Amino acid sequence: MLGRIRIDVPLALAPMAGITDLPFRHICKQFGAGLMITEMIASRAVEQGRMRTGRMAEIGSNEHPIGIQIAGSDPDYMREAARWAAMRGTDFIDINMGCPVKKICKQVAGSALLKDEGSVAKVLEAVVDAVNLPITLKIRTGWDESSKNVARIAKIAEESGVQMLTVHGRTRAQMFNGYANWNDIGLAKAAVSIPVLGNGDVVDAASAKEMLRISGCDGVMIGRAVQGNPWVLAEVRAALLGEPMPVKPEGSERWHVIHDHLLTLKAHHGEQIASKLARKHVIWYSKGLNGSAEFRRHFQLLTCWEAQLAVTEAFFCGEAQDWLHAA
Ligand SMILES: Cc1cc2nc3c(=O)[nH]c(=O)nc-3n(C[C@H](O)[C@H](O)[C@H](O)COP(=O)(O)O)c2cc1C
Repeated sequence: MLGRIRIDVPLALAPMAGITDLPFRHICKQFGAGLMITEMIASRAVEQGRMRTGRMAEIGSNEHPIGIQIAGSDPDYMREAARWAAMRGTDFIDINMGCPVKKICKQVAGSALLKDEGSVAKVLEAVVDAVNLPITLKIRTGWDESSKNVARIAKIAEESGVQMLTVHGRTRAQMFNGYANWNDIGLAKAAVSIPVLGNGDVVDAASAKEMLRISGCDGVMIGRAVQGNPWVLAEVRAALLGEPMPVKPEGSERWHVIHDHLLTLKAHHGEQIASKLARKHVIWYSKGLNGSAEFRRHFQLLTCWEAQLAVTEAFFCGEAQDWLHAA
């Protein structure tokens, strides 16, 4: 439970800017994500009333439970962003203190806030007070190896009224290099009594179980492993619920999922933007399949939506090399 929200399985889709938009989440929900979070929304962008920000916060009726993620270091902007998010039908609000991107850290937001524990408390308290929804927090384990403060930040979060914490087991200095340290996630779990989700480098059911064993966490959040592979959610879900492993679909069964994803991309973003976004998603879907390198080279050059659909269908459903003649 998260406040009054029932979560049927402690398996969360990680927020990923530019990726976890409504169409991507629509697919992830079908494969059993227990909890989802939007892309990060900068509190300044909310204040400036940017159009794109409204689109990023759109929530589909089948997506619950879902949280809108906000980021920023100014308690006033964050309070306003939280109220704005609450009016958009979100079930909870997630605060990002894990983003390592320079542009965000320069404004002392994202993971840069972890260096300033006083400001962490101020931001969290402002958001908790602003809305009548559960507040969750996503952090890294600290700024760098010599200043890891994951347990203290976890404690501050709990004392500020945060109801669930996600820890990505890397420091900011690590960016996405090296490995997530699952023991460090356990330091946060041991420090608090609110639920803690562990995150970083979970790629399948076995790694999910191992992360939970090492960290002692209550649940798992998965990001990059879901790109082009929403089936991993069904696998991890089954492992967490003790159910039989689902079979990963092949060929035309995969195409049905990809087709649904592409049509939802077009409905949500319009054909022009969908066509650009389709490139990365279709290429991720094709990863590791026979002939995928050649398919990727060919697909990247396509600019017409109909051709993208035809070539993708032929690649997933046709005989070897059929797709070369599809466009
Ligand atoms: C392209 C990309 C965009 C991301 N955007 C966000 C974001 O908007 N908010 C956030 O809290 N984390 C963001 N992350 C971090 C992920 O949520 C997650 O913590 C990280 O990828 C580690 O988990 P994984 O190993 O399962 O991918 C992003 C990661 C990637 C790769």
